[in-house]
Amino acid sequence: MQELTIIRPDDFHTHLRQGDLMKDLVRETSKSFGRVLVMPNTIPPVVTPDDVRAYKKELQDVGTDLDFLMTFKIMPNLDPSSMTALKEAGAVAGKFYPVGVTTHSEDGVANIESSYEVFEAMQEQDLILCLHGEVPGVEDLEREHAFLPQLKKIHENFPRLRIILEHTSTKAAVEMVQSLGDKVAATITVHHLLLTTSDVRNGEFHPHNFCAPICKSESDRKALVETVLSGNPKFFLGTDSAPHLKENKEGDHPKPGVYTTPVALPLLAQLFEENGKLDHLENFTSVFGANFYELEKNSDTMSLKKEEWSVPSDYFGVVPLKALEKLTWSVIKN
Ligand code: DOR
Ligand code: ZN
Repeated sequence: MQELTIIRPDDFHTHLRQGDLMKDLVRETSKSFGRVLVMPNTIPPVVTPDDVRAYKKELQDVGTDLDFLMTFKIMPNLDPSSMTALKEAGAVAGKFYPVGVTTHSEDGVANIESSYEVFEAMQEQDLILCLHGEVPGVEDLEREHAFLPQLKKIHENFPRLRIILEHTSTKAAVEMVQSLGDKVAATITVHHLLLTTSDVRNGEFHPHNFCAPICKSESDRKALVETVLSGNPKFFLGTDSAPHLKENKEGDHPKPGVYTTPVALPLLAQLFEENGKLDHLENFTSVFGANFYELEKNSDTMSLKKEEWSVPSDYFGVVPLKALEKLTWSVIKN
């Protein structure tokens, strides 16, 4: 049977939530990944150095060997002078959410320039700026496109600041990131590589494929696939795995978010293999992100085998991407 062994992957964008669900998510995540960048949009959000320390401890107390790279949420009134203490508390990045664009962003920032003093202080502390790049109030298919001039402007104002455009979903965004210097990179999710708008709504709404930014057109999807296959080091894996309980996704007000952690590596292996680029998978999952974050690559490996399996209908009450479908690669358990 064909096996594939790669440097243990990192997920530079994941949501691990809180409470009992968090414990299940951490255990599941540790089966595939070595390190994860943990998003701060919990309730209440992770904002202060004490929040960062407390959340990290809760995650570590689950008792896996997953490493947690912590973020803080850039709130409208965040004090720029708190960056030193945030860094000392273990934060490696700050996450910027424009107000109202996604799950738990009602407390996000309305005017991005009001955060420029924070960006300046982050640049001085060498903290990474992770951007949810969508403009509120714009039609959902156009929101990311509308944000791109702001990305350029932040980079021009803070040329030493490392910036990541998270969950890049359009060809235009890929081109913008490519056109900016080495300090600007992007994460790409598994679902944006596989889905288009018609998997979300085609007369009928498919809540489990609904995320923010929404999956775009086939030409956007193809541009993302070409980009990851090309081996450009500015683009690396951040799954934006964003679990919500089945009943909340299927209710009247479904929250955006696709849960991909358990299927991420099998689906990526399949995609890279189908395109004859299996040898580029490891750079995307395990090398380029570590380099951008200035971390050593993980010292251990993980393996996949070519063995068909059926994705469960749910993991702890959360419906995953490709639920009940058959995948061709599976993760070999340690
Ligand atoms: O689809 C998404 N879900 N996008 C985000 O930006 C947030 C996330 C969540 O927290 O559920
Ligand atoms: Zn996210």
